[in-house]
Amino acid sequence: MSDNKKILVIHGPNLNLLGGRESEIYGSTTLADIEKKLREFADSSHCMIESMQSNSEGKIIDAIHSAMGRFDGIIINPGAYTHYSIAIYDAILASGLPVIEVHLSNIHAREEFRRRSVVAPACKGQIIGLGWRGYLLGLQALLAEL
Ligand code: DQA
Repeated sequence: MSDNKKILVIHGPNLNLLGGRESEIYGSTTLADIEKKLREFADSSHCMIESMQSNSEGKIIDAIHSAMGRFDGIIINPGAYTHYSIAIYDAILASGLPVIEVHLSNIHAREEFRRRSVVAPACKGQIIGLGWRGYLLGLQALLAEL
C-alpha cells in the first residue's frame, strides 16, 4: 500500500545540467521535467516525494542520513559517484532503507569505467538505460516493495 509513503529522490552531480548536457546520451529532458513527471506520478500513487540535487558527495551522504526515520525509501542517481563512492555505498547500507539506483543511460554500453556500480550491492534494485522513465519505474517498484 503506497498511501502516505514518503520517498526521497536524490540526484547526484551534473544532473542539474540535464537537457543541455550530452543530450545524445541523456536526452533533452531537464531535471525540472523529470521532477514534474515524478510529482505527477507520486500524486497519482498517493505517495509523497521530496527531492534534492547535489554536486557534492558529502551533501548526498547527509541527505541519506537525514532520510533515516523520515522516509520509507530512496531513489538515487548518484551520477559519477556511482562508480567509486564507497562512502555513498556505506551510507545506503547504514540507512537500512530500501534504495533503488537509477541511471538514465545504459552504463554497460558506455566506457569501461562506467560499467561498475560500487553502490549497486547496497541497493534493492537498479534501473538503467531507460532515460527519464527509469525514475518513474524506480518509484513504482519501490512503492510495490513497501
Ligand atoms: C549517469 C551515468 C554516470 O556514469 C554519469 O557519470 C552520470 C549520469 C546516468 O544517469 O546515466 O552523471 O548516472
